[in-house]
Amino acid sequence: MSIALLYERSENDENGIKLTAQELGIDLTYIPFRKIAFAISKNGFSAKTKGKDYTSVIEGTKAVLNRAQSKNRRLQASYIMEMLGKKTLNSSEIEFLCYSKLRTLLLLHKEGIPIPKTVFVPCDAVDAMKGGREIHNEKDIADLFQQEIPLEQGIVIKADAGTHGKMIMLSKTRDQLEANILETKPSIINPVGIVAQELIQKWFYDLRIIVYQEKGKQPVCYHTAMARAGFKDFRTNTFLGNLVFHAKLPKAIQDLAVKCGQILGKGNHAWIFALDAMFDVGENKNVDEAELKLELDKAGQAFLSVQKMKQDELRLTDFAAWNARLEHAFQVYKSTSAYEKINSIIEESVERNMGAIVFHEANSCPEFWENTRLATGLNVAVPLLKGAQSLIDS
Ligand SMILES: Nc1ncnc2c1ncn2[C@@H]1O[C@H](COP(=O)(O)OP(=O)(O)O)[C@@H](O)[C@H]1O
Ligand SMILES: [Mg+2]
Repeated sequence: MSIALLYERSENDENGIKLTAQELGIDLTYIPFRKIAFAISKNGFSAKTKGKDYTSVIEGTKAVLNRAQSKNRRLQASYIMEMLGKKTLNSSEIEFLCYSKLRTLLLLHKEGIPIPKTVFVPCDAVDAMKGGREIHNEKDIADLFQQEIPLEQGIVIKADAGTHGKMIMLSKTRDQLEANILETKPSIINPVGIVAQELIQKWFYDLRIIVYQEKGKQPVCYHTAMARAGFKDFRTNTFLGNLVFHAKLPKAIQDLAVKCGQILGKGNHAWIFALDAMFDVGENKNVDEAELKLELDKAGQAFLSVQKMKQDELRLTDFAAWNARLEHAFQVYKSTSAYEKINSIIEESVERNMGAIVFHEANSCPEFWENTRLATGLNVAVPLLKGAQSLIDS
């Protein structure tokens, strides 16, 4: 009985999980989750690609590490595997929660975790009627949002099931607000209605905090978070080209993050989350911004060689060799004085603004190989694999 790694495409994270499994001596099997037919009939269950029958692989699987990237596919994957009697990391219950930012926030808020003020209007921006007629609702929706969040403060509209900063839009004027509401057509990343949030005055960084639990053990918050930083865009997603740093977490924040994990993972023996959190820093800034921007520019220059190595095609032919070079490039970046300065500015800011933290998202299948691991020192593949193993062992 083994652990199966389920994925759509084998990318760096999946190759990293394979490499880590080898190092830990854990046997992994693989379940593709794209061009494969899952069939149920009176003859039972089968799973076949055009070239290979995976039915017996799945039969021999006890726990599934679900790495399907699209949220919808991941949710289906967990559910299918659970129906076939497999343990899943994360479970479909967790995937259902994390699929929707609103569902995540409702639960965290209910349990007393600080979140940004969030408003949901179930109505879509435009209703299509018979005969091609359209009813426009953006003005009413804008009024409803403004009733809850002052526009001067900034209103963030976000696709409820989006990722990578997609469809996260900031409005500071009425025209922008209506235009942004119109952008949110019902889609796979925003199934229904519109979610808005107060703009948190978060300065130049936010945090990605890893929490996890193995069956039979205490939940853990990794002591160091990844900080994503830059002034380029109010969205700090690394996908949008921001820089990454590490930030040691004060004990109080680690405790709060563990609580978030326990709330979201309730009823599950093993779980893992990457929590996104920001601080309402406002004017409580610990250094002059002009000076900070100079350091960020310098760090940005140093980060170029990391970015170049990330693109290097060696990763496709010799993943382990590419990884060694990437690690080296990152170490060089990390040892620059600009990196060290910004790291301490962030850690000091976190310390000063601890009481102003808000949690805004829980990611159930975080990317980690290229940024989180190198910045923080935590190879997330280890808790992933050990979490899956813990579901089998007992
Ligand atoms: N309410 C907000 N106030 C300020 N910045 C925000 C707010 N919501 C999101 N952001 C920024 O946009 C980024 C992406 O938003 P997030 O809710 O994490 O969605 P995604 O799933 O796209 O990562 C956040 O990491 C943060 O930097
Ligand atoms: Mg996020």
